[in-house]
Amino acid sequence: MADEAPVGVFDSGVGGLSVLAEIRRLLPAETLHYVADCGHIPYGEKTPEYIRERCQVIAARLREQGAKALVVACNTATVAAVADLRERYPDWPIVGMEPAVKPAAAATRNGVVGVLATTGTLQSAKFAALLDRFAHGVQVLTQPCPGLVEQVERGDLSGPQTRQLLQGFVEPLLAAGCDTLILGCTHYPFLRPLLAELVPPEVILVDTGAAVARRLHSLLAVKGCLAQGPAGPTCVWTSGDPAELVGVLPQLWPAGAEVQAFV
Ligand code: DGL
Repeated sequence: MADEAPVGVFDSGVGGLSVLAEIRRLLPAETLHYVADCGHIPYGEKTPEYIRERCQVIAARLREQGAKALVVACNTATVAAVADLRERYPDWPIVGMEPAVKPAAAATRNGVVGVLATTGTLQSAKFAALLDRFAHGVQVLTQPCPGLVEQVERGDLSGPQTRQLLQGFVEPLLAAGCDTLILGCTHYPFLRPLLAELVPPEVILVDTGAAVARRLHSLLAVKGCLAQGPAGPTCVWTSGDPAELVGVLPQLWPAGAEVQAFV
């Protein structure tokens, strides 16, 4: 595949832009095509079948655009659909993501880890398998966060409503002694500044955006199709209202990008 072909990245909404930022940092020359499925958010409260269907539609479109690799920048979509996508496209490099249980288990000092994620992620068999594999000797407490994704979609990263919601999710985990919190949804890294006000400074926050970017880099390098040359463009599509996304973009993607309708 051509070096200058785009990399396709998608999420249920704007959350995957936190992953896109890590990809852009590590791979400045790549052309990035990002689909925000804002018209169908939140994935976290949808059935796996519904999510799989959306992922198929989006993946097919990114493939039509000539994407040389696909990044599922969403934990919820990964647990529901990444196996299906890999089966459909066995030769396409596909990077999924999962809550950072392994790094958190290595980072915790007192052996108590909290996971903030969507209901869909926490209820999945894939998440249970992740715990079986990496959480030996560590107590893992899970906290679904309904409503939080919608706050980030609105661009409300620090207002009273978001603060109250986040505080309500984090407090029981802190009260139970968690010294490490996993941000298991790609929307949540945008709440790091607010989290820094709500949790003591010694609590470690982990997410997987940078690891996803490294994995993408290594897959492209193995295939010999890393882009070379000057900074590549970023193009964004949304299945929601493009004007709404344009409104929140300056907070979430300060470099700016052209936004088009995904129909
Ligand atoms: N950003 C997605 C994730 O990483 C989920 C958001 C949603 O519920 O749509 O899990």
